[in-house]
Amino acid sequence: MIKVALPNKGQLFEPTMDLLAACGYKVSKSLRSLSTLDSENDVEFFFLRPGDIPLYVANGILDAGVTGMDFVAEKGVTPICMVQLSYGKSKLCAAVPNESPAHTLADLHGKKIATSFPNIVQGKIPGKDHLVELEGAVEISIKLGIADAIVDIVETGTTLKQAGLRIIGEPLFESRAALYAHQGRENSDGLRILKSRIEGKIMAQEYMMVEYDAPDALLKAACAITPGIESPTVMSLEKTGWFSVKSMIKKRESQKIMDTLAKLGCKGILLTALDSVRI
Ligand code: PRP
Repeated sequence: MIKVALPNKGQLFEPTMDLLAACGYKVSKSLRSLSTLDSENDVEFFFLRPGDIPLYVANGILDAGVTGMDFVAEKGVTPICMVQLSYGKSKLCAAVPNESPAHTLADLHGKKIATSFPNIVQGKIPGKDHLVELEGAVEISIKLGIADAIVDIVETGTTLKQAGLRIIGEPLFESRAALYAHQGRENSDGLRILKSRIEGKIMAQEYMMVEYDAPDALLKAACAITPGIESPTVMSLEKTGWFSVKSMIKKRESQKIMDTLAKLGCKGILLTALDSVRI
């Protein structure tokens, strides 16, 4: 049995639940549930605050967890990053009211800065006296009069805009979601299966399957266009001198590859999506 932490709220909650469900895990969460047992897959999932997950995983209370890289950096711990995920892409940015004269991070020296990431902020804007540490809803703190500026996660920018704030300076940290493991447990059976299922989903999103028919004379040239991962599958057709070819291709190149195969003289070119893969 492995113990895995999942974010219980925020921007990482829904995509993580969707990913785990798509990977065949039973992760349904009712409103107040703190954990759930997936006995079929031998995993116990714990729903925790994304900022607490790095500590639970780094000190070995839990075997693994999904959270943002920014939360791991803030805690200053070093769990093993097993897989980087495609969602949760965000930047930790400084922001001030639209009407503020501040335009650079240097303009914030001596100002009160509200944030949930005090360690990252101190590394970039020295001076602890000016920090106001908050648990969340940081964007409203300026309006409430306890800070002149904030440093918070920006994903789409909608929350900042609604609060009448604008970003200043370069991002202090760039983040995305990732699966982390306790150092030394990353090769346990349960975690290797979890990793390969997630990687299988990621790869299925990046690749597609192309199938087409090619006459003997074009077979070599067609296979060179679709070399696949190992090698394309080639089968003889009932029609003498013709072959059916099947190969994985990169999704972003798929339309161009179909055009090239058609131009070469291949027939019956079919493109299908993949649900999951193991390479
Ligand atoms: C994060 C962050 C911002 C918001 C930014 O909050 O703290 O409030 O997302 O997203 P946007 O740029 O797309 O508007 P989250 O919902 O993850 O949880 P939190 O309120 O607990 O910080």
